[in-house]
Amino acid sequence: MCGIFAYLNYLTPKSRQEVLDLLVTGLKRLEYRGYDSTGVAIDSPDNKNIVMVKRTGKVKVLEDAIQELFSGSEYSDPVMTHVGIAHTRWATHGVPCERNSHPHRSDDTNAFVVVHNGIITNYNDVKTFLAKRGYEFESDTDTEVFAKLVHHLWKKHPNYSFRELVEQAILQVEGAFAIAVKSKYFPGECVASRRSSPLLVGIKTKTRLATDHIPILYGKVLPRSDSTSEFMPLEEKEVEYFFASDASAVIEHTNRVIYLEDDDVAAVRDGTLSIHRLKKSLDDPHAREITTLKMEIQQIMKGNYDYFMQKEIFEQPDSVVNTMRGRVRFDGNAIVLGGIKDYIPEIKRCRRLMLIGCGTSYHSAVATRQLLEELTELPVMVELASDFLDRNTPIFRDDVCFFISQSGETADTLMALRYCKQRGALIVGITNTVGSSICRESHCGVHINAGPEIGVASTKAYTSQFISLVMFALVMSEDRLSLQTRRLEILQALSKLADQIREVLKLDSKVQELAKDLYQHKSLLIMGRGYNFATCLEGALKVKELTYMHSEGIMAGELKHGPLALVDDSMPVLMIVLRDPVYVKCMNALQQVTSRKGCPVIICEEGDEETKAFSSRHLEIPRTVDCLQGILTVIPMQLLSYHIAVLRGCDVDCPRNLAKSVTVE
Ligand code: F6R
Repeated sequence: MCGIFAYLNYLTPKSRQEVLDLLVTGLKRLEYRGYDSTGVAIDSPDNKNIVMVKRTGKVKVLEDAIQELFSGSEYSDPVMTHVGIAHTRWATHGVPCERNSHPHRSDDTNAFVVVHNGIITNYNDVKTFLAKRGYEFESDTDTEVFAKLVHHLWKKHPNYSFRELVEQAILQVEGAFAIAVKSKYFPGECVASRRSSPLLVGIKTKTRLATDHIPILYGKVLPRSDSTSEFMPLEEKEVEYFFASDASAVIEHTNRVIYLEDDDVAAVRDGTLSIHRLKKSLDDPHAREITTLKMEIQQIMKGNYDYFMQKEIFEQPDSVVNTMRGRVRFDGNAIVLGGIKDYIPEIKRCRRLMLIGCGTSYHSAVATRQLLEELTELPVMVELASDFLDRNTPIFRDDVCFFISQSGETADTLMALRYCKQRGALIVGITNTVGSSICRESHCGVHINAGPEIGVASTKAYTSQFISLVMFALVMSEDRLSLQTRRLEILQALSKLADQIREVLKLDSKVQELAKDLYQHKSLLIMGRGYNFATCLEGALKVKELTYMHSEGIMAGELKHGPLALVDDSMPVLMIVLRDPVYVKCMNALQQVTSRKGCPVIICEEGDEETKAFSSRHLEIPRTVDCLQGILTVIPMQLLSYHIAVLRGCDVDCPRNLAKSVTVE
């Protein structure tokens, strides 16, 4: 949902071309957040103006344009201090085109330029206000009002510092934003801020930083020379700063970052970073911590794979182990979830568990609901975050609400979280992104540790979310004697899971052959029930989003209530029929399909000759305990959607119209 990236070098010589390279690489790392259009702004060679380049399409198009436009020697001369800002867009207001691409500018002299992620909800009011004062708008975006508002304030308050101008502008806008602003009137300075959209500051210095914290300055701040508490990273002060929507864009430069909080204003001036807040409330901290990222650069590279999604599918034997690492002790049958252990007694006393998320994350809730009901003996509700808010769902103080989100930034999920928190419920975050808003706003939680997921279609995060919820169910039933046999069976199955996933991944070439039969069809129905219904929903979502082919996940029990009408000898059908308590019912559904001349592809257990006999095409998966089947059955679906997408010539990692982190409603 748009990626922003800004770079500032202070007393560290860099040519404009080097700065542009840094900006383009930063954008490439953030491309998964949106790829409708891109743009950069840097200083002109005479340092008097700001030059911008914008292109419709992916970062590569911008990169080619930059190579063509900035090849002159004036761009290869090193400069001691420079600020560049960059953006990759997922269109919300205004169609994808150059005119609507960021950076947006205040006026035709490019006095202030802005990159923005989020939505300014009162932009119409601000636009009307500014239009009355003579501003002419050149795009259909909400962002442009911000650049013009800063300019208007600058005219009104010529003595304000850059930071104060941005602060004043922020006070006037509503909605969600992460912004970075650059100005020709404040060379070498950059101001950035966030509200409900993610933003971090990366700091790179030649020697170790002298501090792990940066003090927060509240209220109106004295001019810099009078302020002794500001952050001085180094004696010699050679420093580089990065502002980015997420850590993957900075990790190749530095692992030292500060996650900004809502309404923080971060300003760099004379190489010094300071963080400001206009108002101080009682529980506000005195400083922001400089965190050391644990991420490795290899984690965000494609390696030998063609696509990130493919890499992430094949990482699952390792990612599931990482989710369980240090938490599950297979020898002692014990599970400890450090992030929620202190809250378990309170959770056990709750009225009900609510699992809330969107898309794939929601499906992980559907996949584990039955086990949670069984092992916690509590009512479990699963909710789509957007619908949950639309309904003003009643929430009580003794509810425990789980918010499941790979990115930890999904706006619908975050708003549902705040809604439940206000009503006194206990908030448990299940996320993959350390430092994300959902992480920070939860009372407690489980970090799924799947590693960075870059492909827009979620794969390894799903299986890790699934396992995290299974582990939670096991923790909740630790002291229930009657459930110990069942727990043991699940724990044993968990210990074999990584190897079994490896087995399933060996089906890759078989799945590719299947994809060749299916890719020209218009539709694909995926049927199953019980523990595998979630796989049907998730499989259909993967097919839709990656291949643009219609696909529907159907609860096999519902077949005769309508969907059976779709079945004939030409409709592709995939059915999951495993040896579990719903096997007989699944076989009924299978026969309903075959008697309507349907010829389904069957996902069944290894060596299940009886079931295989119902179709000439089948994918066999290893046997596991019923409640973990969904992990093994979803992998062929991930592979299938991947191969169909490749055969249809779709961009696997960047499906059209989508973005990975949906930070708007
Ligand atoms: C589908 C997909 C989306 C996300 C959804 C929620 O492959 O990735 O459906 O699952 O947008 O995102 P998170 O989990 O980041 O909250």
